Amino acid sequence: MSDQNELKTAIVTGAGGDIGRAICLELANDGYAVLALDILKEPNDETMRLVHEAGGKGEALICDILDADDRAKMAEAGRKLGAISLLVNNVGMVTDESLHKASVENFEKDLKINQLGAFACFKAVEQDLIANKGVLTNIASVNGLGVYGHPGYSAAKASLIHFTRLVAVEYGKYGIRANAIAPGTVRTQVWDERAKKNPQVFEDAKRWYPLQRVADPVDIAKVVSFISSPAAAAISGACLPVDCGLTAGQAELAGTFAQSEDY
Ligand SMILES: NC(=O)c1ccc[n+]([C@@H]2O[C@H](COP(=O)([O-])OP(=O)(O)OC[C@H]3O[C@@H](n4cnc5c(N)ncnc54)[C@H](O)[C@@H]3O)[C@@H](O)[C@H]2O)c1
Repeated sequence: MSDQNELKTAIVTGAGGDIGRAICLELANDGYAVLALDILKEPNDETMRLVHEAGGKGEALICDILDADDRAKMAEAGRKLGAISLLVNNVGMVTDESLHKASVENFEKDLKINQLGAFACFKAVEQDLIANKGVLTNIASVNGLGVYGHPGYSAAKASLIHFTRLVAVEYGKYGIRANAIAPGTVRTQVWDERAKKNPQVFEDAKRWYPLQRVADPVDIAKVVSFISSPAAAAISGACLPVDCGLTAGQAELAGTFAQSEDY
């Protein structure tokens, strides 16, 4: 059990990316000592620079979540910062766009990085989360809820959502809460490649979103902050879409079905 005066550590994987960075900033603002992890040094250091600049506490660590030694170092560094109370599995990566183009090798890569990596990070800090009645927050995707392209990634995110429920049910008796967040399109650097093919990609995407906009990294970070906080003490095993309404339905299609201009 953690000492009440000890700082609480939040571990955030993929902290060098835009969403990971926004999550680190939000959690530091919530008072956590943040352990920012990424396989890339430079963007991760930049995240920690911004956390410190904003008055937050934390440390940046290079870590390949698929490497067992790195995960052991992650747990060790987290304990040095404080009582490990929150793990945010945020690493994510896509390979093939369609099943037709997908290779077995890439499908396996998608499953490993998006699902197995999250499970492995959880195992590395499992005892800490039990001792500290901690929280697991997994960053999934709407791709885990329906078909939106990138099949290997989608299968892995669906599995990540189910893994979240597995933790919620098996570890609830220890006071551990586990939830997933399913973002729709988020304006981040990962879209740069697609924007090269189609500079209008966000404009085109907006058409399918009831709120007629895509999310920003801070939209995701605010929900991570809430769902990981005591304000969400009774929420466990949930998958919360943060998708500007995408998975609720499409206005254009509703209009066609209802033959109404009201949509
Ligand atoms: N951007 C979107 O539109 C969107 C939509 C839905 C869900 N998401 C999810 O949000 C999360 C963050 O997305 P993002 O857009 O910021 O992505 P990103 O690619 O910018 O960030 C991911 C980070 O993970 C790091 N990483 C990759 N492999 C790693 C490894 N083996 N070990 C440690 N770090 C590793 C990368 O270096 C990168 O900094 C992902 O899980 C993604 O699937 C994003």
